[in-house]
Amino acid sequence: MSAAPLLQVDDIVVNYRSGPSAVDHVSLAIPRGRTLGLVGQSGCGKSSLARVIAGLAVPASGTVRLGGAVLPTPRGRADATRIQMVFQDPGSALNPMHTVRRTLTELLLVHRRAPDRRAATDRAVELLELVGLGANVLDARPRGLSGGQRQRVGIARALAVEPEVLIADEAVSALDVSVQAAVLNTLRDLGSRLDLTMLFISHDLAVTRYVADELAVMHRGEIVERGLPDDVLRNPQHEYTRSLVAATPRMDGPALSAAEEARPL
Ligand SMILES: Nc1ncnc2c1ncn2[C@@H]1O[C@H](COP(=O)(O)OP(=O)(O)OP(=O)(O)O)[C@@H](O)[C@H]1O
Ligand SMILES: [Mg+2]
Repeated sequence: MSAAPLLQVDDIVVNYRSGPSAVDHVSLAIPRGRTLGLVGQSGCGKSSLARVIAGLAVPASGTVRLGGAVLPTPRGRADATRIQMVFQDPGSALNPMHTVRRTLTELLLVHRRAPDRRAATDRAVELLELVGLGANVLDARPRGLSGGQRQRVGIARALAVEPEVLIADEAVSALDVSVQAAVLNTLRDLGSRLDLTMLFISHDLAVTRYVADELAVMHRGEIVERGLPDDVLRNPQHEYTRSLVAATPRMDGPALSAAEEARPL
C-alpha cells in the first residue's frame, strides 16, 4: 500500500480506570479506496481504537489525520460525519420505533444531503439499492427485518452522510454464516464501487482476510503484525498471529466458499 494514506492514525493511547492501556501506542494508515482488516481476540482493544478513530471517544494521546489534517478532539460538527461506523448489533443501532424511511430521510435532511422530503426519499431508495435492499423495506421497522436486512440498513445509514471512511466493527459477527457471507460481499462490492476507505474489524481471521487489502493483527492493545493478507497467513511472524492462524481451522469454510465465487482464494 504505497499511495498517500487518506486515514492516518498515530500513536493512539486509550486508558480506562485500571489496568494496562486498552490501546497502547497504536499507529495505522489506510490509503484512499483501500480496506484495512484489523483482527484480534476479544478484549484486545479493537473497539476502543475504532471509537477514537470515529470521534466517539477521546484518547489519552495520539492523533487521527484525515487527508493529511489532524481531526480535532472532540470532533467538531464539520468533521462529525467524515468517519462513520457500522456496529455489531444492527438491532440496537437502529431506533426500534422508526421506519427505515424515517431513519434515512431524517438523516439526509438534517445533514443536507437532500433538499426536500421527496428528494430524500429518492436518495433513501438509492441507498437501499446500493446495499442490496429495495423500496419495499421503506415502511418496515427494525423488528420487521431480518438480521441481515437490519445490518444492510445500518450500512445504508452510515453511507447516507457520504463519509470518507467507513469503520465496520464486528459488522457481520452477529449474523448467521450464510447471511454473513452475503453482507461481506456487499461490503466488499461497495468498497470498490464507491472507492470507500474502510477499516474492517473482526475477531475472525477468515472473515477479515476476505475483505481486507491489508491486515493488521492486534494483541493486548498493540499492533503486533501487519502485511498483505496472504503473506500474514502463509508466513505469520508474531507468535500471537501464528496461534490465530492455527486456530482458524478452515480458511475456506462453507460460508466463505459461497462468497468466494467472485474472487477465488
Ligand atoms: N468503557 C470501558 N470502561 C472500562 N474498560 C473498558 C471499557 N471499554 C473497554 N474496556 C476494556 O478495554 C479492553 C479493550 O476492550 P475493547 O472493547 O476495545 O476490545 P475489543 O477488541 O473490541 O473486544 P471485542 O472483540 O470483544 O469487541 C478490554 O479489557 C475491556 O474490558
Ligand atoms: Mg469490540
